[in-house]
Amino acid sequence: MARIERIGEGATVLRGFAIEDAARLFDAVCAIAAVAPFRRMVTPGGFEMSVQMTNCGALGWITDRKGYRYERRDPETGENWPPMPAVFLELGKRASAEAGFAGFFPDSCLINRYEAGTLLSLHQDRNERDFGAPIVSFSLGLAAVFLFGGAERSHRPRRIPLESGDVVIWGGASRLAFHGVAPLSASVHPLTGDCRINLTLRKAL
Ligand code: SIN
Ligand code: FE2
Repeated sequence: MARIERIGEGATVLRGFAIEDAARLFDAVCAIAAVAPFRRMVTPGGFEMSVQMTNCGALGWITDRKGYRYERRDPETGENWPPMPAVFLELGKRASAEAGFAGFFPDSCLINRYEAGTLLSLHQDRNERDFGAPIVSFSLGLAAVFLFGGAERSHRPRRIPLESGDVVIWGGASRLAFHGVAPLSASVHPLTGDCRINLTLRKAL
């Protein structure tokens, strides 16, 4: 059973929720990356992100000089994003229900890859059409410090250590909370080696 930690109104960490499924999740990530490779995308301002990204599901989140958005096709390959593995869906639904969001049905999964020094600056997830659905975020591999702030960028974020198998869910009053990831410390993890993988399940449409 996962230990439930409330980190804000509508925001929860399920400690160790996916530990037993971590290898299965990681295998699925490797299969996806073989078809839709990890890449560093460019922000509308012209900066290359330090996080490497890919996607699976009906829609994938992308950024380029034209802006942040969801697309049905991978711009690198011109093909549809690989389908969402059943294990992502099943665990995403179970985790969200446990956090109090029954009926979550994600159509998109952003997959982030962090190496030593990689960070993700504070941002809101707001390219989705329906803010009624939560964000469900799985951590695999190296530990990280998740930054979880408030509705304003200026709110000092809480620093929440995350380990492989932890799941963070935020919705409701926290749906538009600013969040990010502190620079990853160099280390080695038996599952992923020298990186951290994060799966972010969303209902984009
Ligand atoms: C994200 O906000 O897209 C990722 C968060 C994380 O890597 O934990
Ligand atoms: Fe995010």
